[in-house]
Amino acid sequence: MPSFANPFVGNVNRKMTDQELANAIRLDIAGELEAIYLYDAHAAATDNELAKKVLADIRDEEKQHMGELLTLLMHLDPTEKELFDHGAGEVREMMEELEKIGKKKKK
Ligand SMILES: [Fe+2]
Repeated sequence: MPSFANPFVGNVNRKMTDQELANAIRLDIAGELEAIYLYDAHAAATDNELAKKVLADIRDEEKQHMGELLTLLMHLDPTEKELFDHGAGEVREMMEELEKIGKKKKK
């Protein structure tokens, strides 16, 4: 189970600000990640073909939820999108460097 503190438990007296909502979405994302991990582990731990198929299908639905939540988070917190994009760019640079090294080794 996610171990993040949930600051929204019992909050029924007011609506969240967008910043509070962004934090809630981060907690929701953690829940999706945990669900993906658990469904995948359970599917791998059984030889029951139907269970494997159902669990893998649910796992993949959770991945779609991740995409929805990440997109919502980036909408709510545009700074977060900039940071995600920056991180993705760094990984792409590393991939390109490794690709160049691989090509040099093949020569
Ligand atoms: Fe989900």
